Amino acid sequence: MKRRPIIAGNWKMNTTLNSATTLVNELAQAINKKHVQAEIVICPPFPFLLPCQTASANSVIKLGAQDIHFEKNGAYTGDISAEMLASIPCQYVIIGHSERRKYHHETNAIINKKIKAALGSRIQIIFCIGESNTERETGETFNVLSTQLIEGLKGLESQVLPTTLSIAYEPIWAIGTGKVATPTQAQETHEFIRTTLSNITSTEVADKIRILYGGSVKPDNAKELLSQPDIDGALVGGASLSVAQLLPIIESI
Ligand code: 13P
Repeated sequence: MKRRPIIAGNWKMNTTLNSATTLVNELAQAINKKHVQAEIVICPPFPFLLPCQTASANSVIKLGAQDIHFEKNGAYTGDISAEMLASIPCQYVIIGHSERRKYHHETNAIINKKIKAALGSRIQIIFCIGESNTERETGETFNVLSTQLIEGLKGLESQVLPTTLSIAYEPIWAIGTGKVATPTQAQETHEFIRTTLSNITSTEVADKIRILYGGSVKPDNAKELLSQPDIDGALVGGASLSVAQLLPIIESI
């Protein structure tokens, strides 16, 4: 099964209006000169989504948000709905990032509601899962990942559309730490995720869902990770804040 790879940059809570638009514009210009195979998605902070869209117009760059609320609208001060994002339009949204799970106490049940909200608005989803260091060391990785997948996708078994759902496997111990899963470790885990997805949906659907790796992806480790059969792209944090680092990752596809 040939799946089109995605390289997504998660800027997290970084940049200002000026640095965000400059960065995305420089990336757009650099990419325009190359024959880029992968789908490129940049996820800036909410206030910079529209300015970044303007600054990367006429390029292949798509924009994504870093989170959504599960309701369409209402008294939820400070929150942003899928409907709002779709109206920009913004094409992607990251859901269930481990930093949201940790700092905003997002449970699998909340994440499930967010996934349903995004599906309803036809925004493409990057659904993040991943185990902690302790969970890996105590042999809990596969249990944790299958629970996150089963509970996150509850009620969607028959309707999850492969084109609108991607999974990002982000081992928490590899995020922002410089520690990276070995290509063998990552491939083994991605294969497990695909098998779990095929149990939840069907082999046919699971074969079409893209599974990205995230966690200290850098120019020097991207090629080997991305050449694994079940790794269909990368969700890049720190290195996505620099064209000099992100471009070689994109080119390593
Ligand atoms: P780093 O690439 O900085 O480790 O971050 C990964 C990540 O959390 C992307 O969502």
